[in-house]
Amino acid sequence: MSNTSIADYTPTVAIVTGAAKGIGRAIALRLADDGFNVAVNDIPAEQQNLEVVAGLIREKGRQAVVITGDVSVEADVEKLVAQTVEDLGGLDAMIANAGIGAAGPLSYLDVEQFDRILAVNVRGVMLCYKHAAKQMISQNRGGRLIAASSIFGKKGVKYCQAYCASKFAVRGLSQSFAEELLPHKITVNTYAPGVIRTDMTKSDKDGDKHGSFVKSLFTAKEDAPDADPEVVASLVSYLCKPEAYFINGQSMSVCGGLFIA
Ligand SMILES: NC(=O)c1ccc[n+]([C@@H]2O[C@H](COP(=O)([O-])OP(=O)(O)OC[C@H]3O[C@@H](n4cnc5c(N)ncnc54)[C@H](O)[C@@H]3O)[C@@H](O)[C@H]2O)c1
Repeated sequence: MSNTSIADYTPTVAIVTGAAKGIGRAIALRLADDGFNVAVNDIPAEQQNLEVVAGLIREKGRQAVVITGDVSVEADVEKLVAQTVEDLGGLDAMIANAGIGAAGPLSYLDVEQFDRILAVNVRGVMLCYKHAAKQMISQNRGGRLIAASSIFGKKGVKYCQAYCASKFAVRGLSQSFAEELLPHKITVNTYAPGVIRTDMTKSDKDGDKHGSFVKSLFTAKEDAPDADPEVVASLVSYLCKPEAYFINGQSMSVCGGLFIA
């Protein structure tokens, strides 16, 4: 007899961090299509883009709130969760998507940049998981914690020391949370995209083809597979559904086969 089931979790409210553009924006819009009311978060400088995303969510007939803040700051994440609960009535899915990256040889590796990447990509996910989980446990209706890892979190590549370390860490963090939260019917998974066409994969070293530089780091050719953010949103949409209750502690590659485990 299973200790959890589809009926244990009814998705209603989601938070998406880093939702002003790229993958986060696509996830927020897709979850609205799925029936979620959505709190969209990003740094204050992205407030205007967040308002656009919120407007699109409202056009779909769902509620949206804009809550700016830095995911690496605990007070900001506490406020993100508290305000979401106040405005939208609870929290069922936390999508800890916000992330930053940098690439360069070890001669450019400096402590300040290394610490910043770890702070946003790892501490940020930890804080989102921690405060969302506390809320979900108090509601006693299950939930979904989902974060952005990467295929660079499954295979280390040259020039991406801090980024690879951070995305491997997201997987370890998520596995630990998954074990702990099992009794609360809260699943914890990560998505591990390959090359997705967003600002993050744009480089002045690209030449004519967006993503060529990132692909070269993975020793892939410039015509190797890439995709739009909606392919990642589609996977997250599935993971948020009640029927995905049996997927837990996993890191799911969505990379067109660029990395095959
Ligand atoms: N694009 C890809 O190919 C790819 C591949 C693998 C993993 N990812 C991961 O997916 C996630 C989204 O990537 P993307 O390509 O959409 O990136 P993006 O740069 O297009 O968007 C990231 C968003 O996160 C926001 N952000 C940055 N720091 C933040 C902070 N401290 N607090 C709140 N928001 C913050 C940015 O302002 C931006 O709007 C990231 O975690 C990234 O590492 C992306």
